[in-house]
Amino acid sequence: MPLSLLASHDAPASVDTALLVVILGADPALTPAMVAIDGSVGGALSRTVSRRDFRGGKDETLLLVGPDAGIRRVLLVGRGAGAPTRGTARRAAAVATRQARKLGLASMHVLLEDASAVAIEGIVTGIAAGAWEYAELKKEVPANEQRDALATATVFTADTDDARKAFVFGVALSEGQALAKRLGMMPGNLCTPDYLAQIGREIGARHDMKVLVMGREEMLHEGMGSFMAVAQGTPQEPRLVAIEYKGGGSFDDPVVLMGKGVCFDTGGISIKPAPEMEWMKFDMCGAAGVLGAMETIARLKLKINVVGIIGAVTNMPSGTAVNPGDVVRAMNGKTIEIINTDAEGRLVLADLLVFAKRFRPSIVVDAATLTGAIVVGLGHNAMGIFGPDAAVVEEVRQAGERAAEPGWPMPVWDDYKEQIRSDVADVKNTGGRAAGSITAALFLQEFVDGFPWVHLDIAGTAYSQTDLGWIPKGPTGVPVGTFVEFVRGRAG
Ligand code: BES
Ligand code: MN
Ligand code: ZN
Repeated sequence: MPLSLLASHDAPASVDTALLVVILGADPALTPAMVAIDGSVGGALSRTVSRRDFRGGKDETLLLVGPDAGIRRVLLVGRGAGAPTRGTARRAAAVATRQARKLGLASMHVLLEDASAVAIEGIVTGIAAGAWEYAELKKEVPANEQRDALATATVFTADTDDARKAFVFGVALSEGQALAKRLGMMPGNLCTPDYLAQIGREIGARHDMKVLVMGREEMLHEGMGSFMAVAQGTPQEPRLVAIEYKGGGSFDDPVVLMGKGVCFDTGGISIKPAPEMEWMKFDMCGAAGVLGAMETIARLKLKINVVGIIGAVTNMPSGTAVNPGDVVRAMNGKTIEIINTDAEGRLVLADLLVFAKRFRPSIVVDAATLTGAIVVGLGHNAMGIFGPDAAVVEEVRQAGERAAEPGWPMPVWDDYKEQIRSDVADVKNTGGRAAGSITAALFLQEFVDGFPWVHLDIAGTAYSQTDLGWIPKGPTGVPVGTFVEFVRGRAG
């Protein structure tokens, strides 16, 4: 049963709820609203605050048990010091929601007093994140063992336009993120290039957007020898999907969002080691991010033109697979020596970047789980942001910051290009271990012509191999928030 998210302007103390979540900052003081709630837990809230049993630290929780009517439980959740941000509000709301689900409660209310617009956005996306799960492939829990599913979550907001907008935005972003997370979590045998194309068509149909889907034959005809080199290892049809959202003027050049959609990355002939290879089902998170962002952007009816392009394929070794040393020709005529077939994402994106030019992009922002090296460089805390134009790199970085999807700029100096010079072709697809994420970005840049471009390496941030406290291990939703926030920032 899907969770329904509601907004309420009622007085928190007067509601009837299984759980009232109160999100508090560091060293909270008792407010009038808290005093009003205090009675329903027999004064436990004011005693807790005065005894400093609850300090409001990040991820701190304390459950107070109330009566069988009215406010039946109060859960205090800490968000740490400072004014609430999208990230801290999101985290606290997600922690609370996971707790509510563990308790088997069907409904909850969430209060963060004087919530700003960003805090409301954070709370809504946090509730959705905390409620998210991928249970499609598990058999149903027998009825007698089942706990209630969380069916409704109500957020207290002010009765203002800003608050309403923030709530609506949070819901729309959550939908896009849930879509992206589901696709990420789906195994590679189900989330195939055809499946991603089907999802693209569904998003298009839902919001009346034009969707272009290409297969092997059309792409070979277009001269996409780079993308098709990855695709030749499997009889499975590769898919290029382009979704056109028209919310701006008919002559306005669109923002192009682009994503790597490698549905499974075995490495190809340069095969990956077996341990943890199963995580390579997440190698389509860039594409999932584009699809999720298009869903959100269309729901919000943002006043701007946007094209979402994904390149979907599975990287397989086989008798027909591309070999190390092979040279292929991309759509712009440049030849590529394929040194390592495991550097396949850049081969897909190369042709997508050339292809994107026909949409006359005002900018292309691509996202890709491109390199293991970005995990070495920035860990799981930040995506790498690359691009020759510092101003647009900063614009994307700020969008990521607003979305609580941190990123950090990386250099793309010409000097690094030495590493991808080929003896036989115009460029080679790997540049050795040193600066692996930078040489990958510089490889992509070879196929950028005539438009501003920013590349996001999300290999360390699109999914997590550990439980992060606010979300379980698995997909994080990155880069949906960054894409949406960037587009929102440019919309009229
Ligand atoms: N999909 C991987 C990158 C990756 C690694 C994503 C770890 C998430 C976690 C990419 O296709 C890849 O295999 N890159 C190689 C490039 C190398 C062969 C130059 C890598 O990072 O090892
Ligand atoms: Mn690879
Ligand atoms: Zn890959």
